[in-house]
Amino acid sequence: MILVTGATGQIATAVITTLLRQLPISQIAAFVRNPAKASQLQAQGLDLRIGSYDDLDSLDRALQGIDTVLLISGTEEGKRVQQHQNVIDAAKKAGVKRIAYTSRNLRNPATLANTLMHEHFETEEAIKASGMAYTIFRNALYMDAIPQFIGGARGFERGITLPAGDGNVAFALRSEQGEAMANALVQMSNESQIYALTGSETWSFADVAQYLSELTGQAIAYTPIEGSAFAANLKQRGLDEQVIQRIIGFMTDIKLGQEDQVSASLETLLGRKPVDLKAGLSIIFAETLQANEH
Ligand SMILES: NC(=O)c1ccc[n+]([C@@H]2O[C@H](COP(=O)([O-])OP(=O)(O)OC[C@H]3O[C@@H](n4cnc5c(N)ncnc54)[C@H](OP(=O)(O)O)[C@@H]3O)[C@@H](O)[C@H]2O)c1
Repeated sequence: MILVTGATGQIATAVITTLLRQLPISQIAAFVRNPAKASQLQAQGLDLRIGSYDDLDSLDRALQGIDTVLLISGTEEGKRVQQHQNVIDAAKKAGVKRIAYTSRNLRNPATLANTLMHEHFETEEAIKASGMAYTIFRNALYMDAIPQFIGGARGFERGITLPAGDGNVAFALRSEQGEAMANALVQMSNESQIYALTGSETWSFADVAQYLSELTGQAIAYTPIEGSAFAANLKQRGLDEQVIQRIIGFMTDIKLGQEDQVSASLETLLGRKPVDLKAGLSIIFAETLQANEH
């Protein structure tokens, strides 16, 4: 029996969709924080287990009878390491055999600019210390996050200005990473595993600009900028200082090559080549591109 946490979230949705194609529904359970968001899971007939990473009793109940738990990393910065520890402890107590986790694939955790990422590596250590077999998915930066970085379709008009230098990213679609995670979880093995789930190539924001130019038929430029000038621009647009520093953290890590490692694992687990950047952008911006055609 596999329990997928964060089940109302986006990557878990892809995981559950793939699991449902491969396992009887009686072998899948979904951990849900907010039942109001779970109507689709309920309609599918999944075994819903309600609770929160902060609520130890709910975790104890949810992990009963579970062999494998997929812990989807939480969203609350500063609280996540303890929340993940709560899930690890409850899993161990309940006799769970394998714990899987959504970490990040970054070249050198010791030199990261984005402090948010340290929480993933602390969680990896806690999982390894638990003694349970583990599957760690070191996920690539979601290709789906590109609109957030470039200001959505407004980036088509303004151009893309980011402090990412000519850094490259092994972007992969979130849905494909979820599909690959499910495929890995149904493969029976007693070994602990670490998979880096990345695209088959890397791309820079200059590539993003070039492909978006080709897809829209309008010239979209990428202009690398220093972090301080970028911060001043965003401040003028009224963005919160914490949000600005977070984006600069992501971009600095890209500039310094933290996101540019490529692995074959995603392709192997999918059984096909992952969607490349140009095809991915046409999916991500499908609505805008269609609206522009009319
Ligand atoms: N690789 C990347 O580029 C990248 C980018 C962004 C995020 N991430 C990480 O990957 C995770 C999964 O991504 P996603 O796109 O699926 O995110 P998402 O759609 O925001 O899903 C996160 C899920 O975690 C649940 N959750 C958060 N805190 C919880 C808590 N305290 N107790 C129980 N459940 C909790 C959320 O519940 P609700 O639905 O109730 O909110 C949601 O279902 C994110 O949470 C984040 O850690 C990775």
